[in-house]
This record gives sequence, structure tokens and C-alpha cells, in this order.
Amino acid sequence: MLRQPNVSRRSVLISSACLFAWQASGIPAAMAAARRPLSSRVKSLIAQMTIEEKAGQLTLMPTPWTSAAAAKINPEAALRNVENLTDDAQAGRVGGVFNGFGVEAHRKLQTAAMKGRLGIPMIFAGDVIHGYRTVFPVPLGEAASFDPDLAERTARAAAEEMAATGFDWVFAPMVDIGRDARWGRTVEGAGEDVLLSSDMARARTRGFQGRSLADDASVAACMKHFVAYGAAESGLDYNTADISERTLREVYLPPFQAAVDAGCATVMAAFEDIAGRPIHGGREFLTDILRGEMGFDGLVVGDYNGDVEIAARGLAADARDAARIAIMAGLDMSMASGIYRDHLPSLVQAGEVPMERVDEAVGRVLALKERLGLFEDPFRRMDLKRQKARMRTKPALSLAREAAQRSIVMLKNDGDLLPLPREGKRIAIIGPFAEGPSNLHGPWTLFADNKEAVDLASAVRAAVSDASLISVVKGSEITAPIEGGIDAAVAAARSADIVILAVGEREAMSGEAASRDLIVVPAPQQALAEAVAAVGKPMIVALRNGRALALEGAILNAPAILVTWFLGSEMGNAVADILFGATGPSGRLPVSFPISAGQVPYYYAHRRPGRPANARYITSRYDARFPFGHGLTYGEISYADLVTSSKQIPKDGSLRVTVTIKNEGKYAARELVQLYVQDVVASVTQPVRELKAYKHVDLPPKRSQQVTFDLAAADLAFLGVDLKPVVETGKFKLWVAPSAEAAGLAEEFEVS
Ligand code: BGC
Repeated sequence: MLRQPNVSRRSVLISSACLFAWQASGIPAAMAAARRPLSSRVKSLIAQMTIEEKAGQLTLMPTPWTSAAAAKINPEAALRNVENLTDDAQAGRVGGVFNGFGVEAHRKLQTAAMKGRLGIPMIFAGDVIHGYRTVFPVPLGEAASFDPDLAERTARAAAEEMAATGFDWVFAPMVDIGRDARWGRTVEGAGEDVLLSSDMARARTRGFQGRSLADDASVAACMKHFVAYGAAESGLDYNTADISERTLREVYLPPFQAAVDAGCATVMAAFEDIAGRPIHGGREFLTDILRGEMGFDGLVVGDYNGDVEIAARGLAADARDAARIAIMAGLDMSMASGIYRDHLPSLVQAGEVPMERVDEAVGRVLALKERLGLFEDPFRRMDLKRQKARMRTKPALSLAREAAQRSIVMLKNDGDLLPLPREGKRIAIIGPFAEGPSNLHGPWTLFADNKEAVDLASAVRAAVSDASLISVVKGSEITAPIEGGIDAAVAAARSADIVILAVGEREAMSGEAASRDLIVVPAPQQALAEAVAAVGKPMIVALRNGRALALEGAILNAPAILVTWFLGSEMGNAVADILFGATGPSGRLPVSFPISAGQVPYYYAHRRPGRPANARYITSRYDARFPFGHGLTYGEISYADLVTSSKQIPKDGSLRVTVTIKNEGKYAARELVQLYVQDVVASVTQPVRELKAYKHVDLPPKRSQQVTFDLAAADLAFLGVDLKPVVETGKFKLWVAPSAEAAGLAEEFEVS
């Protein structure tokens, strides 16, 4: 069965309304389009509230007891004091807080809120991007599993833990497409592809929200950052974006639509502006597209100070003006800046913001609290016993190990160097990522304890029969040489039979405010790699990374390379599982690894150039070193017998595609079979290839299996000249291949 690739994609492409012609004042008709009916409880509360209380409900504040990691990203958070916040809660000056810690702290605030005049419970939010105390792989790593079901399970497990400590709302999933590897936040999403990102968006939303938001193990999801945050120019965080409406609709909106279709309760606005229009103040985005076209009926929250920053961008005169523009654009709840609390009362009084609009936003906040069951029991997610019982359970940790194994991508394995024997080999683990508790979890793990994660050296020692054969040498810091480090590393390599070189990026080199201008392994580590490789021992590179990297020299030329991202709590164990063949590698790249850093942004689904043969740099080809979808297994896989059910299908028809996958090797393998299509002649230049479906097949040694895809003609739709979805007749190419740039098996068919 095809994985319903374009259900959401098609539904998002419904309008050809010209984005850039929309006006920015007054309440548009589209606002009424996606309205959730309010309960009588909510209506009656709104009727009793003062404008100050309403503005309070629309105010979300960081907590003063935020963790050190969180405070680093949002420094103001650390400055606020608890007592103020408690007073604010009781006085109804704040509707919710985020990134607090633990049941006791949450209880304290909730108790204050419930003593307030109207007894409206607070909502507690948290950035739990890939696990709470049990940490799962960074989302980009997990996307390498190409397994939405796995992503749903890890999101579910994260929800169970966070909900046990008083959180109602998660600031995830991050569903931004990441096509520029310099942008640090690519690590938080599912990579460059529209289909994979949409599938992951849907799955993660479902996982967080469970069957019912009222469940004490469910949290409201927040798809973010709406929209095209990943298109920031130069890959620079917070930068402006300048993309066409076509690209906005074809590439950046579909994962959000997928999350909407999965019932995502909330959405966070993105920091950037698109072609000069800020998202936080852009009604065309937050209301007309999001509600009017996409049918979103939940709560829109701003990002941290993103509303007041529209003044810094020169789109509002001051904070008051920014508050007016943001609320009229459709931003329901303000995060951190406090500008709604400060200015909505006077804006309403002056007639600059209609009370009706404020009530609408308040209705959404209260409706969310109601759906979460907070009116029935404001303390429902704050239970000390549950907090203890649900942390780092055995099933959660074993899921973390499974997810970590499935996220690892084997780029190369020349001469079948891997898997390694567990006995009789002296192994030198060299590099700044060889051991120690740092850089295992990855960015955005505000609530986890590094010391609880398993590092590479410990896991390798535990995996071999004689741990005394393992030596560990750092050799280099991450971005600086160590005096004598290379000599020590070379000596260790000399006295070993095999080298595992653990190099790459520290976790703070990806995530928010962590863009890199050059996506390479830092120079001191490259120097270490060159020296160690020159010793001539078989070398496996275990890359630590939060983005695609352009690999060079000895790292690129190593016979075996594993992409191990930041894999979370069970990182070391999972890497050792792959190294020693407890399980085979099955991950595939969710982002293209380019030949050189200068190619970025590089993504496989680029449009066809007019002179393909000459579309290259003077010094290198214009394609990927390791393409999207690439990843090897321990099997010996071949593709044969591609058969399509017909050479011609009608516009409402479908094509059955069958292929046989064989494993001629001696190890079991999980192969990801990918179906790509190219529309050969169309009214708009189409991508060279687009992923339309993918399927895993588990093959024991010496076995083969048929894999079938059903491709509907409707899946071939794109946005025509008028930006309306169209399936054009004519010739199509189709590939079933092990990556976006592998030859695979090819066929042609026609839509008539
Ligand atoms: C980030 C968001 C995050 C928020 C709250 C912002 O800086 O962009 O992704 O959810 O902070 O911590």
C-alpha cells in the first residue's frame, strides 16, 4: 500500500488566492471559517472576564526555574522571579507558563491560579522535542528510520513522561522542512523531503495527543514554526526568507497540513518574515491560509518575543503597535514578551482592537484548557507518584534503544569491514566523541540528565568479550587541538587492530541560534582523522552530527562510515549494536550530504536544469556525495523485475508497481524501497525526482520478496501555472531505487 503521500498535500493546494495581494487590516471572512464551537462554560467565563483578565489568558510566560540549557537560549527567562509569577497566576495576569520543572513547582502555580477570582487553571507547556527524561534520537536522526510508526511511539512515550510531571502542552512537533544544512534547526525536523516530513508530522502529532487530549498521559501538540522558518536566507537563524508562493505551497505548507489533518491542537508562529511580511503580524499566513484554507481550528501561539520583534523588524512603531498588528493577524497567545497583557486593554478601549477578536482568542485558550481536562481537574497531570513511576521505564528505554538503532545510517562499508567481531581484536576508539556524557542527547533536551546517557566507549567495552582490548584516546577537542593529542591517537591506532574514529559536531552546533557557515567536520578533528588514517589500520568513522555534512579527506575515504547523529539515552548501546551486528543498520539519509559545503542549500528534488550535463561546478559535480534516501545494510541487496500494471493510466486511475528485492548476503537486512517519479513534460518545470512512496522489507539471508506500490494518478498532481493543483497528461518516469540519486530500476508510463 502506498503511504497516502499526497492526501494532505493535495488538500493544501486548494487555493490560488494571491498571497501577496491580501490586505492587513480588519477581520477577514476567513476568520470565521475554522471556528470550534465554544462550550457554555467557556462562554460564561468570557462573559465574566475583565479585559485585563482576558489579556492575562492570552499571555504565556517562561518560568523562572527554567533549566540552565533553556536559560541559555532564552536568557530573560532566568531573570523572572517565582513570587511575581505566583502573584500573576492568582491575579489572572498569566494564562500559562512554559519550561518549568516538576510536579511540585507546577502545583504551586496551579494552586495560586485556582485561588484567582474566576479559578481558571493555568496551562503548562514544555519544549520536549525528542524526549523528556528518556531521550530519543534528535528528530532528524529519527527521520532516518523512515518509520512514522516509530516516531509516533517515541512521541507517545515522551508525552507519557512529560504529562506525568505536570505538562499539558508540548512545543513539538517541529515540522519545518530543512533544505539548508547550515540552518541549525534542521536537526529538529524530518529533513528535506515533503512526503517524509508530512508523514512524520502526522505521526508525531498523533503520538503526543494520543486518543484524547483529556487523557492524563496526553499533551496538546504544537506544530511549529508556521511557516517556512527553514527557508531563512543563508541558513541563518531568525533571518528573512524570500520564497515564491509556489514554493511556500508545494514545499513548506504540506507538513503543517498533515499535522492539521491529524488534529494538531495548536501551532506556533515562526520568527521570520517572508518577502517582508512577518509571520507574527501576517494575517495572510495566520488567518487566511492557516484557518481559511487549511482548516486549522486550534490555538495560534507566538514564538518567544516573536510578536514584539515585529517592531524590531520595522513593521510596527512600538510594542503597543506590535500587539495590535499581531492580534489582528490572528496570533491568539503571546509568548514571553507580555505585550498583550501590557497593551490589549488600552487597544480595546481605544477601539483599535475589537473586543470580539480578543474574545475569539480567549475562547481558543479556554477551549484548549477544557479539552485537556483542566477544568475538571487542574492537577490531573501533577501527581508525584506518577511522576516517579513514569520516568525512564524499561519499555521507554528499550524504545529509545530501538529508535536509536533505527536512526543510524551506514554510508559506506568497503570490504565488509562491519560488523566487527566481539572477540580477539584490539580496538582504539579515538576522537572527542569517544567517551563521556556530553553530546549524546543532542540539542533541546532541557529536562534530561546527561549522566544518564550511555556513551560509546562504555557500550563498546560492554559489547566485547575482553574490555581490556579497548583503548580510548580523545586526540582532539571538538574545535581545538590538544597538545600531544594527535601523537597519542596515532600511538593508540598503531597498537590496535581496528580504529573507531568518533568525530563530528558538538550538540550546541545545531539547534536554535546554531547555524554554521561551513558544514564540515571542524579542522582540528579533520587533522586528527588524517593522522590516524595514515597509520593504515581499518577505520570506522562514527559521525556525531545534527545536520548533513560535507565529508572530506580521511573521513570521507574511511572504509566504513556511520552517521550516528545525537541518539539520546541509549546512544552508545545502539551504536555498539550496529558495530557488532546485534542488529543491522537500516537508516536512510533524510537529508542529502553534498559533495562540498559550497553547494548548500542542496536538496535532491531540485527542478530540472536546461543543460543537465553542464550544470556543475568547475571543481565538482552538482549532486550529492551521499544522496537523500541512501543507507547501506549488512545484506547484499539487489533490485530486479520492475513491473508496472500498465503503460498508460487515466487521470483518475492508478498504477501498480511491483519489484523484487533480493538479499544475496549472509546477514539479514531491512531494506527501504523507494519510489520516485518525474513528470517529463509539464507546464511548470518539475523536480528531477520526487519521492512518492517508500516501504521497508525485512529480508533474511538468501531470500527475496516482492514489494508492491499503488501509485494513484492523483499523487502526480502539482501546482499549475494558476497555482491550482493539476495532473497533466503525458509522459512520466518512475524509479524504484535505494536512494534519490541511485539508478535503481526505471520505467516510463503515461497519464492520458
Ligand atoms: C523557539 C521555539 C521554542 C520557544 C520556547 C523559541 O526560542 O524558537 O521553538 O518552542 O523558544 O522555548
